[in-house]
Formats: sequence, C-alpha cells, structure tokens
Amino acid sequence: MSAETHSDKGSTGTQLPSRKEQGSFSEEIGKYCVRDINQAEEGRKLIDWAEANMPVMTYLREKYSKTKPFAGYRLAGCLHVTKETAVLIETFKAAGAEVFWSGCNPLSTSDPVAAALAANDISIYAWHGNHEDFYWCIDRTIDNRPHLTLDDGCDLINTVHEHHIEYAKNDVIGGTEETTTGVHRLRARSADGKLFYPVFAVNDAETKWDFDNVYGTGQSTLDGILRSTSVMLAGKNFVVAGHGHCGSGVAKRAAGMGSNVIITEVKATAAIKGVLEGYEVLSMDAAAKIGDIFCTATGMKDIIRKQHFESMKDGAIVCNTGHYDCEINIKELEEISVKNRTIRQNCQEYTLADGRRIFVLAEGRLVNLAAAEGHPSEVMDMSFANQFLCHVKLVESHRAGQKLPVEVIDIPVSQDEFIAELKLSTMGLTIDKLTSEQTEYASNYQEGT
Ligand code: ADE
Repeated sequence: MSAETHSDKGSTGTQLPSRKEQGSFSEEIGKYCVRDINQAEEGRKLIDWAEANMPVMTYLREKYSKTKPFAGYRLAGCLHVTKETAVLIETFKAAGAEVFWSGCNPLSTSDPVAAALAANDISIYAWHGNHEDFYWCIDRTIDNRPHLTLDDGCDLINTVHEHHIEYAKNDVIGGTEETTTGVHRLRARSADGKLFYPVFAVNDAETKWDFDNVYGTGQSTLDGILRSTSVMLAGKNFVVAGHGHCGSGVAKRAAGMGSNVIITEVKATAAIKGVLEGYEVLSMDAAAKIGDIFCTATGMKDIIRKQHFESMKDGAIVCNTGHYDCEINIKELEEISVKNRTIRQNCQEYTLADGRRIFVLAEGRLVNLAAAEGHPSEVMDMSFANQFLCHVKLVESHRAGQKLPVEVIDIPVSQDEFIAELKLSTMGLTIDKLTSEQTEYASNYQEGT
C-alpha cells in the first residue's frame, strides 16, 4: 500500500452531533471542533511550559524535523489532550505527519491546549466535558483514513476494528497503545484472532511503566485529590486499591505526605510488596470501615460497590486513578443515596439515608487528569519519546516494504536504553561504565568462589 492510498473512505463528518444543543463551540467543518478557539494564546503558553521540561522530545523534534520520516503519512491519535500531548502532536507535525486527534477521556481535555492545537493547523476534535460526543470525535479523526493509530485505552483501535474492518485489515500500517488497560485489551483481542494490524505496547517499555505509571501517577493523583478537596493527608487512613505500578506510586506518595496507607489487593505478591513497604494490607470489606480517603488503581470494575459504601465513615472521600470509570460503582451509590450535590469543582457529595456523606471526586474518572493536569511533563517526556519512536519504526518498516507481525509488539530494549540514556544526559548526570574486565566477567559462567 502506498502512503496515499485510500480505501473504504469514511464519512465527511457533516452529521450533527448532540453537542450542538449544549452551547457554543469553535468549529471548522472537516478540520476541528474545540470549545473556544480564542483560548489559543493561553494554551500556547501552557504548551511552551511543558516543552521546556521535555528535553528528550525537543531532541527528537530537532532531529526528525530535518528528515521528516512522516511526510505523506496521516496519524490519528486518541489520547488525553494535555500540554504534554500537544508537545507530542507538534513533534509528529514537525516530522512531516498530518495529525488528527481526539481526547480519550471525557474530562481530561485542556480546552486552551485544544484551541492552541487547532490554531496551529492540527485537526483536533476535543473539549472538556465531552460525554455525549466522545465517539463522534473519534470518528472524525478516522474520516481521512489515517495510516497510523495512537491510542490510550484502545477506543480508537476498537472503533477501527469494529466499524471499519476492511480499512483496518488493508490500510492501517500499525499503531501504539499507551496504557496498561489498553494493552490488556489488545492482548485479549490478539488472542481472539481479532487484531488486524501490528501494535506496539508502549505501556510495557521500562522507560514508560517504571516511571510514568509509578511517579507520574503518584504525584498527579495526589495533586487531583488535593485540588478537588484541599484536605490534609497527614494522619489520614489512605486506602489504595491495587498495588501494581500505579497503585504503588500513589501509596508511596500518600505515605510521604504522612497518611497511614492501607492496600487492598487480589494478587498475593503485590500484597506482600505492600506489607514490606510498611503498609497495612486488608480486604476492601475491612478497609471500607476505617478509610478516610480511597483511591482505586486496579483496572478492574466494581472495586468499591454498595456493600463498601454502606460501611464507610461519614465524610469518606472516594476517587479513581485507573483508566476507566468502572472501578467505583457510582450507580449503586446513587441508589442508596437520598441526596446528591456538588460541593466544589470535581467533588460530589452523596448523603445516605442515615445522614452519612460520601464524597466522590471527578465522577469516578481518572482523578489525576480530570481534577489536575495529569502526569508532569518531565515524566511524559520519556513515555512520549516511546510513542514517537515506535511510529518512526512503523513508517520506516513500511517504506522499506518490511511487514511487522500482526500482534502486540514489545518495545525494543535498544529503544528503552536510548531514551533512558538521553534522559539521563539531559538531567546532567553521568553514570559508570563497565571496564572490559567487568564485561568479560559478566559473561563468564566458569568463575566461582
Ligand atoms: N496520562 C497521564 N498524564 C498525562 C499527561 N500529562 N498527558 C497525557 N497523557 C497523560
């Protein structure tokens, strides 16, 4: 397939979405739809701020804007529209790509950033509070039949695979997936024989998962909780559901702020790690009775449900930092509540029949992105370098006529090493190198005591 081939061309995007009834938008049909294009200047300052803290991306932009590996290629992305994502998008653009974008969560779009991108000729469909037209936005990004897809949570890949099968099989060169939940879904799709093009598991890169998931989630989740409540964390019983990479980051930072951390888990080894970190490990049934703040980070549904709400203390705060909003069963909370009101931005109070109040943050959606600004730029620098380099690999293979296997592909170790070394050097740090004797020792299996 040449980079220009279109088959199975999509709609032109002229059908009216329900947002038309919800107030004013800035829109150019077939090009962008954002909340207010007049926010572009404000958004540009945010993007500049992020860029200043993303030296690896700056390096990649400088390098690939000279060679333009993406010239003639269209890329669709479905990922949180933040200032850091804007740096990624504009790096693709500088490297020659035509970019189409939508948000991957109804509450994570920064409207000023979206406006700045639209003003910079990016085809973007995203606004904060987009509950109704989420898939309409994704559809618009595939109207022009992109060659590459970039996902955070698999909604774009799913849309392409479920509704545009021939295009997925014949025209898409490949894709990438950013997050743990998305990679799980991709592996399940692949095992079922329903994956139609190669997808790199960006999440599983060491320079992504060991940093973004841990330190990024740790800091930004606490940031979201504090922005939406301003409560004191010290001395509180802070329950973290799930002690994987993301949960361990939240636990580490909550402990650092003086909370008594309680872990709930279904995996024995993750629970033991929690114990050895000095946390208490309890079932959710037991934790529900004593927790002050609850944060889910599991990727599983119904972690906090009716039986748990019923035993919580008055004033308990509940939030989620996993990809989907299914971890807290808010429908069941609504059913047992007699009253529900907004206390402050991203903080909803539910009153139970006996008068106890439970506060839910950010509608149970990713609290770090909905109530704060997501992970800091410094850590997204490495995650997005992985995204970018995987797409370079996809187009380089395509140009060379090499077919990558149609499966979920691991990130090459060499890419991880390259990004880590570059990041370290931008931090002004040098590390030791093995001597030749040490290198030899490392491969010697005969030497003993
Ligand atoms: N996921 C978590 N934090 C993010 C950020 N700042 N930008 C994009 N995606 C993210």
